[in-house]
Amino acid sequence: MLPWETLDTATAPDGESLDLRRRGDEFLIRAGGYDLMSSEDDGSSKALSSLGLLELGRPAQHVLVGGLGMGFTLREALDLVGPEATVEVAELVEAVVRWNQGPLADVARRPLEDPRARVFHGDVGARIRKPPQRFDAILLDVDNGPDALAHDGNGALYSSSGLAAARDALTPGGVLGVWSFSDDRKFTARCKKAGFETEVKKVQASRKGRGRFHYIWIAKRRP
Ligand SMILES: C[S@@+](CC[C@H](N)C(=O)[O-])C[C@H]1O[C@@H](n2cnc3c(N)ncnc32)[C@H](O)[C@@H]1O
Repeated sequence: MLPWETLDTATAPDGESLDLRRRGDEFLIRAGGYDLMSSEDDGSSKALSSLGLLELGRPAQHVLVGGLGMGFTLREALDLVGPEATVEVAELVEAVVRWNQGPLADVARRPLEDPRARVFHGDVGARIRKPPQRFDAILLDVDNGPDALAHDGNGALYSSSGLAAARDALTPGGVLGVWSFSDDRKFTARCKKAGFETEVKKVQASRKGRGRFHYIWIAKRRP
């Protein structure tokens, strides 16, 4: 088997180290010494966009994705919205954007080169709270999930006040999609309490239809 080659290393704003590795056609981003994501695990990242935009039930004009990772969620959203729409991606780590403009660019068919794509460099929570823009869909895959945080600062996104901010940043009937490594009933209850009609979907991690499952909350803002 081919050995992993480290292509670059970076430091997140909270001091966590990240590195980008490659083995043949496969790429891996590691964070804090653990595998954050592999280019083989694109299934659930794409499902976050496809399930969220399907549930919206109308054409999306403005979509917010957080974070960029390898660009699968962004790519899928761009493939599903119309020519006048915008899809903004908030990414905390500048190096991740650079990797997507360089070695990772072809992994998700160069989504950052699409003229409908916008990059916000920073915390997606700050972007959600930045008026006046409202989104038809907010699609979050920034951590291991509501209950398993790699970055402590991300806890606020999944809290009651974080959910209220996301609700207020959505158009009526807009959809909040949240990716997670595992199910979390307390988070489902918080979504409902925050004014969302909420469903949890279990989806295959890989597009090849094998291996682990991940969970996606589809939370629709009540009109
Ligand atoms: C698992 S990856 C996302 C994978 C993505 N769904 C894809 O399609 O490739 C998580 C990303 O979120 C970023 N991130 C973590 N916390 C963030 C935050 N608060 N705001 C914006 N980006 C964040 C990480 O740097 C990383 O790029």
